[in-house]
Amino acid sequence: MSTTTKSEKRDPAVPLSRNKHLQRWVDKMAQLTQPAAIHWVDGSREEYDDLCEQMVAAGTFIRLNQDLWPGCFYARSDASDVARVEDRTFICSLAKDNAGPTNNWEPPAEMRRTLKRLFHGCMKGRTMYVLPFSMGPIGSPMSQIGVQLTDSPYVVVNMRIMARIGVPVFAEIDKDFKRVVPCMHSVGMPLADGQKDVVWPCNKEKYIVHFPETREIWSFGSGYGGNALLGKKCFALRIASNIARDEGWMAEHMLIVGVENPAGEKTYVAAAFPSACGKTNFAMLVPPEGFEGWKVWTVGDDIAWIKPDKDGQLRAINPEAGFFGVAPGTSHQTNPNAMASLARNTIFTNVGLTPEGGVWWEGMTNAPPAECLDWQGKKWTPEIAKETGAKAAHPNARFTAPASQCPTIDPAWENPDGVPISAIIFGGRRATTMPLVFQAFNWSSGVYIGATMGSEMTAAAVGTVGKVRRDPMAMLPFCGYHMGDYFRHWLKMQRNLSETPRIFHVNWFRKDKDGRFIWPGFRENMRVLKWIVDRAHGRAKAKETPIGWMPRHEDIEWTGMGFDKASFDELQRFDPQAWRQEVIGHEELFLDLHDHLPPEIIYERELLIARI
Ligand code: OXD
Ligand code: MN
Repeated sequence: MSTTTKSEKRDPAVPLSRNKHLQRWVDKMAQLTQPAAIHWVDGSREEYDDLCEQMVAAGTFIRLNQDLWPGCFYARSDASDVARVEDRTFICSLAKDNAGPTNNWEPPAEMRRTLKRLFHGCMKGRTMYVLPFSMGPIGSPMSQIGVQLTDSPYVVVNMRIMARIGVPVFAEIDKDFKRVVPCMHSVGMPLADGQKDVVWPCNKEKYIVHFPETREIWSFGSGYGGNALLGKKCFALRIASNIARDEGWMAEHMLIVGVENPAGEKTYVAAAFPSACGKTNFAMLVPPEGFEGWKVWTVGDDIAWIKPDKDGQLRAINPEAGFFGVAPGTSHQTNPNAMASLARNTIFTNVGLTPEGGVWWEGMTNAPPAECLDWQGKKWTPEIAKETGAKAAHPNARFTAPASQCPTIDPAWENPDGVPISAIIFGGRRATTMPLVFQAFNWSSGVYIGATMGSEMTAAAVGTVGKVRRDPMAMLPFCGYHMGDYFRHWLKMQRNLSETPRIFHVNWFRKDKDGRFIWPGFRENMRVLKWIVDRAHGRAKAKETPIGWMPRHEDIEWTGMGFDKASFDELQRFDPQAWRQEVIGHEELFLDLHDHLPPEIIYERELLIARI
């Protein structure tokens, strides 16, 4: 449908889809929001360059030193718009009971009235972009399509990295095979005639709203990350978890890796960890000394869509096309593959800006720069930091980088049929109780382990340090329906499988009595991953314990690393007293979910109590 020739510029107001439903919806939303212009996004490089150029002119983007950071841009958000807003996130199912106690809910009719008020005229003075996107490779039977209407060019260029967008997606929509998820987004700051724009428009009032039955997303007031890039958490997790439950598949907050041994055998594993547990690092793991010939391939670092194929084998795709990674702490030591991924064609938001036009964040290098501008544009030096505690980068500063640039990206990462999953790992940050690794006895005990997953809260909130927050399957902020029904769905999934993946729990963060980490983590986690893979193939030894199957010291590959049996036994120690407390902790979540809790979860708890 594009009218473009090489010599003339396309008129972006001309629709790029023949789909009448889509055109009517765009018209209706334009009437509501009253933008100054409409731009149908073709997804081309030229369009991307133009939008970046426009944002440089407007001050939203700073072009980084192209010799150091080719193709890279820098942005600073408003100080009030720096992270996902969980308390402003709503699942507006028809019945409150379907959203469950772990989600915010308001009656959908009431919420629609609120949204109509907020969106009325909200795009005045701005361009409304019609942004089609595919979560998953275009044309894959496992992919889903959305169209985001947004008044943020920052969102458009980030979405071009994070998803497949533009003309090929319109072509899919025109085939009319797939339902399209409508995604409305506005930064919520209309411009009056002649009013000068700000660098990061947003609104103090924020609403991130999902209507699960009609598969709709409405996001108002924020331009940042998961609030605004609607393909990610809103679609690929909250709406997709609803679609998946109805269609018999799973939308999970999981990374996917392929582990290749020296014989060339590749085993794919999916893993769920709450935030701040090193998910991106694990997705890009570099095997340590002693693992010559082993490779870990990256399929995805955040989200997995997992579906049984016709033979009953679970297969997974990464619905995303980029990494929206936390910058602080990322370095050539902790994650060289992430550093290579973000070396070019990357958008940095809320990190520090160096005088030579580069970026810096805490933990990036051992020696900080002598001076830079912090994420709010203020002068930052190591001395100022020492005195005031000021950070160059916001703790939630991000890089948006193309997954294709990752040196370990799996050759099959865009396979339309996904990759076969042999093992699932759950993990959290636990100073006590949880051993380095254990294997669930079977699928339902594994679901129990995932459902009761916890992670310690860090120093952010006074008085709660060390308190374990239950975060079932790392989906607490992302499950788009009742968590009890979600457990039931997990349990039911096994019925469609010919081969059940093995389920494991890991904890890299156990501490000794002096408060020191017992396990070095990072590359050494490969030793655990190897045992997991070998267990999935039925060829590694283990011993039965009250909580599951555990490796003994001699079951782990130690070549290249000295780790004595006594330390390993301490790391793996099962402490009956601590587990009594642990089971009591499980109750906290179960009390809230009780009227939707599947009986299998109760049975599993009873069996666990009987064993400990
Ligand atoms: C993320 C998150 O941004 O889980 O991936 O919060
Ligand atoms: Mn995540």
